Amino acid sequence: MKRLIFATNNKHKVEEVRAALDGLVEVVTLAEAGLQGEIPETADTLQGNALQKAQWVWERTHTDCFADDTGLEVEALGGAPGVYSARYAGEHCSFDDNIDKLLSALEGETNRRADFRTVICLIERGEVKYFEGRVDGQILTERHSNGEGFGYDPVFMPDRFAVSFAEMPLDVKNSISHRGLAVKALAEYLKA
Ligand code: IMP
Repeated sequence: MKRLIFATNNKHKVEEVRAALDGLVEVVTLAEAGLQGEIPETADTLQGNALQKAQWVWERTHTDCFADDTGLEVEALGGAPGVYSARYAGEHCSFDDNIDKLLSALEGETNRRADFRTVICLIERGEVKYFEGRVDGQILTERHSNGEGFGYDPVFMPDRFAVSFAEMPLDVKNSISHRGLAVKALAEYLKA
């Protein structure tokens, strides 16, 4: 079976991606590929960061590979935190710090529209391709969680649902989420 190195060591992402690409490709993590070190993520777009991460792997292995990058884009904040979603409240901040900063930034704001967007960059025999997934919704005024999920999940409610991402079973979230849709687009391409 075709092998693809996924530029991550995040267990949850690997599990989700392996399930979606099951039977199509063998997904290999950075650690499994023997790659160590911090991958730079210094671009100012999701696409740029996904490319940078995939290129880092390609340059070291010349093996087909892919990388993803995700951002929460809030309309009333001009698309912020976007590419800076992981470190919105500072370099070593927690998920809770980020949510606190977001809720403060939106205090009194009636436009709560936001989306999560994931870009996947695939490098196949040196050729670059992009796949995207997006989910629209709104930022809640307080946390709603029953312990599911991570990141901004407790304050993001996707359209057509009455619960936050952090109140949904993981399989339901994955079936409508930004990352789920981006991986599905990659799977469709690999199937074709
Ligand atoms: P990454 O590019 O997948 O590492 O995502 C960057 C940041 O976006 C993460 O650190 C989280 O804060 C946020 N994020 C990404 N995906 C999700 C999600 O599914 N739910 C909530 N937050 C997310």
